[in-house]
Amino acid sequence: MGRFNLEHVYESQQFDLELLDIIFNVADEMKKDLSAGQRHYSQALKDKIMASLFYEPSTRTRFSFESAMARLGGSILTTENAKEFSSAAKGETLYDSTRVMCGYADLIVMRHNEPGSAKRASEASSVPVINAGDGSGQHPTQALLDLYTIKDCFPTVDGLSIAMVGDLKYGRTVRSLSYLLTKYDNITIYFVSPSVCRMDDDLKDYLTTNNVEWQEEGSLEKVLPLVDCVYMTRIQKERFNDLEDYQRASGKYILGLDQVKLMKEKSIIMHPLPRVDEISREVDEDPRAKYFEQAENGIYIRMALLFLLLGND
Ligand code: CP
Repeated sequence: MGRFNLEHVYESQQFDLELLDIIFNVADEMKKDLSAGQRHYSQALKDKIMASLFYEPSTRTRFSFESAMARLGGSILTTENAKEFSSAAKGETLYDSTRVMCGYADLIVMRHNEPGSAKRASEASSVPVINAGDGSGQHPTQALLDLYTIKDCFPTVDGLSIAMVGDLKYGRTVRSLSYLLTKYDNITIYFVSPSVCRMDDDLKDYLTTNNVEWQEEGSLEKVLPLVDCVYMTRIQKERFNDLEDYQRASGKYILGLDQVKLMKEKSIIMHPLPRVDEISREVDEDPRAKYFEQAENGIYIRMALLFLLLGND
């Protein structure tokens, strides 16, 4: 196995193919260990403490990180809502909170509303900081579990075509996954979004520079027969300043059974979740629907990251 040399995880551009391989191999090991009930790693982090500092709501990321730490035998410091119940509510800066928290924990998992916040926190921290989503910035651990899911469904990632659908302007998961996909050859991305939430130019320029083909397409039905993976996302009401823009964007792209019929037999449907109405409930029974497996993969990926960041000594 190569060397895992990251101190912090704040953006997808930190990963190269070698690091991805290391993480996915350890995630495979964790999955095998849990599935077989062997629990070889149940005490791997027994003296370690993880602080989960979530300034924004979360179900999957927070609980899967906390579950991952518990499954590795570590302890957890947490608060229901760091924005309200930490001293951020009294005006404490992120810098001060981070400086203090690294005295209490061996690793900090942070979700924050401001893009770039996790990187700033990492600069103030003497312990590893993991970005669990920074506003409309990035969500690198989601991208890792997304890619892990894709790798599980196809013989190779090279040559795949992916449609990213929905809120591409504020969607941190599509940004982070796009960065990771540049590590592979002959990738094509179709961006399908309402006009008020198109993918920003900086990401499109990055893809072009890194030899990923991309195009914007208004019709979901036109793209569905072409792609190997449809990555649906929620229109994030909480990120819109203008309610009319939100209303213009919502409900425009819905994947129901009629749409799924247009997809290739061997294609897959992904979603970082939570969903609102963009994938109909009936689609869940289609074998191409992978979003619940995707969410489950979060536990293996996050166990792998915690183990690699904390367990190497
Ligand atoms: N996918 C994801 O980040 O979900 P949560 O917001 O529930 O953590």
